[in-house]
Amino acid sequence: MTFLELQPLSQDLLPAALALDQRCFNGLWTFDGYQRELDSPSSELLVLVEKGAEREGADGRQATAKDRKREASETEAFNIQNIPAPSNHRNSPARPSPSLLALGCYWAILEEAHITILAVDPTYQRQGLGQALLYALLTSARDRGLERATLEVRISNHSALSLYKKFDFREAGHRRHYYPDTGEDALVLWRGGMQTPDFAERLLQWQQQICDRLSQTGWQWLTGG
Ligand SMILES: CC(C)(COP(=O)(O)OP(=O)(O)OC[C@H]1O[C@@H](n2cnc3c(N)ncnc32)[C@H](O)[C@@H]1OP(=O)(O)O)[C@@H](O)C(=O)NCCC(=O)NCCS
Repeated sequence: MTFLELQPLSQDLLPAALALDQRCFNGLWTFDGYQRELDSPSSELLVLVEKGAEREGADGRQATAKDRKREASETEAFNIQNIPAPSNHRNSPARPSPSLLALGCYWAILEEAHITILAVDPTYQRQGLGQALLYALLTSARDRGLERATLEVRISNHSALSLYKKFDFREAGHRRHYYPDTGEDALVLWRGGMQTPDFAERLLQWQQQICDRLSQTGWQWLTGG
């Protein structure tokens, strides 16, 4: 079992974020671009990091199997409410960099969350990390009081389209020749109703499914904080 933690992107992880961006998108944003996102209060950048199979307890000793069992029940695998405040992370002193496995971002614009990035390291795809991160972005957007989520996706990106469909995104438009590198069209997707009781119910269902998927692929979710 390997530990997985959700946290806001911090300054020390910026080079790793850039490397992941390069691997997944061939360089969508520059270092300065990520820095601007870090500095922007309307931008939410979340990452999933691997914390290693063995984890030290608060007292510095190696965690035992008993510790890990207790920790698993205490964290109950998935409590997004406990994401630490971004400002704390961004200003925290240098610490050993964990491996960054996935990166997601949205911009809060009026009542909308514009999802700008969702990327999982190719080595770790198809293990449930993409859905965990999308769930985290949507939960964060809901907690900010946003009503809708929207994004653009390449018409040929079947993996991403399948993922968004699972989260009830619907096609709302078509942008012709949107991507300059290939001239490919983009689909515009929407997911509304994020402040409704139905959405809260869907979040709970997804949470359970994601927990199951992660544990099948050998991951244990740790809360931040
Ligand atoms: C899209 C992406 C984020 C999915 O991440 P992932 O960790 O592999 O996804 P998960 O393992 O959580 O899978 C969740 C769902 O996504 C869909 N999916 C993911 N990979 C898929 C694939 N290769 N083929 C078909 N569907 C796929 C499936 O619906 C899957 O659910 P299932 O496992 O029940 O079939 C990842 O492929 C990626 O980073 N791609 C490159 C960057 C990118 O295109 N981002 C989207 C930009 S809009």
